[in-house]
Amino acid sequence: CEKIAPYTLEINKLKKEKDAVILAHSYTNPEIMYGVADTIGDSYALSMEASRVKAKTIIFAGVWFMAETAKIINPSKNIYIPAGHAGCTLADSMTGEDLSKFKEKYPGVPVICYINSSADVKAYSDVCVTSANVYDIAAKMPGDKLIFVPDVLMADNLQAELKRRGVRKEIVSTGGSCCVHDKYTEQDVEHLRSEYPGIKVMIHPEARIEICRLCDYVGGTGGMLKYVAESKDKTLGLLTEVGLVNRLEHDNPDKKFIWNKGTCAYMKRNTLLNTLSALQNPSSAQTVVVEENICNRASECIEKMFKMTD
Ligand code: 13P
Ligand code: SF4
Repeated sequence: CEKIAPYTLEINKLKKEKDAVILAHSYTNPEIMYGVADTIGDSYALSMEASRVKAKTIIFAGVWFMAETAKIINPSKNIYIPAGHAGCTLADSMTGEDLSKFKEKYPGVPVICYINSSADVKAYSDVCVTSANVYDIAAKMPGDKLIFVPDVLMADNLQAELKRRGVRKEIVSTGGSCCVHDKYTEQDVEHLRSEYPGIKVMIHPEARIEICRLCDYVGGTGGMLKYVAESKDKTLGLLTEVGLVNRLEHDNPDKKFIWNKGTCAYMKRNTLLNTLSALQNPSSAQTVVVEENICNRASECIEKMFKMTD
């Protein structure tokens, strides 16, 4: 605490002086979430918040595609990412050109992109989704086939959920997977269940469908927070990124969370030190810039998500 207090005090002072706000994803370090952030959220909440920001500058403690999304929906703001060009294995798994080639195989089929994608991929997509709205938006799309990129594992979960809801649509997908959630195995679930009999286990839909099927709740970070708040259980198992465990522990001091593994090295690149540098000397941080034509097309795809989310 003694070590971080001078940084948090200075960051909070500079934010006011420089007319800046800090948006932080729930996977960032707790000292960022609880020491300096103005808003903590999942990808959907942060993109909504970014569209409403009035301050001149947004410091985005997250990964590149999140800061890029903020720039697309609020282009007049200065946006800096303390972590530099912090990638994401999903967003980095394909380019707009890859998507354009894939689309040629399925003429006229609508394209949904997960928000964990580059501006370029968004520019070639009809609508963007997050873990918070993927099923509802996919169900509302026209036609009997959908292209879903770039998360091939979430595509399987989406296909299964649409079937469960009685929606007849075939999902075709290409891209990659999340290096954190793709690592969960059957043994991870078994381990939690054998150590804590009767425990409810939560997992993110970026994990493989075989593992998700073994769990009690499958949902994004916002969904998990809600599930925990509504649960009467005092001990819950989590197969997701450790930042969310920190957040759940902070918000639910009466509950115990058993976490197995999962750390996103990209998110953890945001530190108090580089957040302070971004405020003191913005040129030391990565400035988010999106080429105008891509920005305009990607913006339509994100705005459509806002319109289609109830
Ligand atoms: P959420 O939208 O659920 O926060 O997911 C973001 C993410 O990167 C999960 O790995
Ligand atoms: Fe990307 Fe996975 Fe990290 Fe989320 S946890 S930012 S999907 S690499």
